[in-house]
Amino acid sequence: MTNNLEITLSTSKKTKPQPDQLGFGKYFTDHMFIMDYATEQGWHSPRIVPYQPITLDPAAKVFHYGQTVFEGLKAYRTSDNRILLFRPGKNFERLNHSNNRLSIPPIDENFLLDALKKLVEVDQDWIPSAEGTSLYIRPFIISTEAALGVAPSHNYQFMIILSPVGSYYAEGIHPVKINVENHFVRAVPGGTGAAKTAGNYAAGLKAQEVASDRGYSQVLWLDGVERKYIEEVGSMNVFFKINGEVVTPVLNGSILDGITRNSVITLLKHWGVPVVERKLAIDELYNSYVNGTLEEAFGTGTAAVISPIGELFWDTHQMKINQGQTGELSKRVYDTLTGIQNGTVADPFGWVV
Ligand code: COI
Repeated sequence: MTNNLEITLSTSKKTKPQPDQLGFGKYFTDHMFIMDYATEQGWHSPRIVPYQPITLDPAAKVFHYGQTVFEGLKAYRTSDNRILLFRPGKNFERLNHSNNRLSIPPIDENFLLDALKKLVEVDQDWIPSAEGTSLYIRPFIISTEAALGVAPSHNYQFMIILSPVGSYYAEGIHPVKINVENHFVRAVPGGTGAAKTAGNYAAGLKAQEVASDRGYSQVLWLDGVERKYIEEVGSMNVFFKINGEVVTPVLNGSILDGITRNSVITLLKHWGVPVVERKLAIDELYNSYVNGTLEEAFGTGTAAVISPIGELFWDTHQMKINQGQTGELSKRVYDTLTGIQNGTVADPFGWVV
């Protein structure tokens, strides 16, 4: 791979949105990063260019067979005007795991981390500073070879785009209502559930739509074999506080190895809060609700950070958790994690870069 990053700066700057207009993933900055792959050349021609549409052949494999992967991470502006990235190395490491699962050639993690830092520096004026805002970073790879044969592509494009964001949910950090999905499944053992690839998200849309029509924000996914064990919530990992102990589903090959998930587990251990990764059946969760030991529930992900669950609907059972309010631990985790990310709380783990 050629590591000489070329930079072409935009001559016209876009108008930046006001912090209250941001929402999630609606606005994009002035520049983007691109590099290409061809079997004979490997990854080559890394460049930062003005943000622009891309041109692809209609036969490009990504459109037909979904050979594509992505990542999500954030940059924050501190009150003393430094720019922080949260555990970015982990995202490029995971991208290579996803690449491997989707038969996409590996990327050079260190080079791309440097390229990302350069891109964020070029577009640093776009990093919002209002509370709860950040610059969402979306690295992704698409297969671009124009060929309809079902086989790994010989050509790819890797891109990074940047989007100033507010809260993922319009409600901010507010408990959400979740429907436990009994019919559709998100992933199966041996499938692609642990990879960050488009198909996993596309396959989840139907259940999300049905849940939304019934007044729920998201779905709780059960395992694809027994439809019994809890896996994820929406596009997030999930945690429950039961009788003083925090439980999260153990990584089993069909659950995404979330970076926020990993950070929450580390933080809880650091605080001395008991936390276990294990299989958790939905009927066990329901029993803990019935006997009054289900104290809190929350989802974790890059976009929402922590998303408290105020209500779960399973089968015919409605479970109101913590009277539908944000739990004490959920709030403490949210405040600490977002504080570490935006530089207002000390980072004992060396997570911010
Ligand atoms: C995350 O929060 O980590 C996600 O993956 C959500 C993203 C798909 C919007």
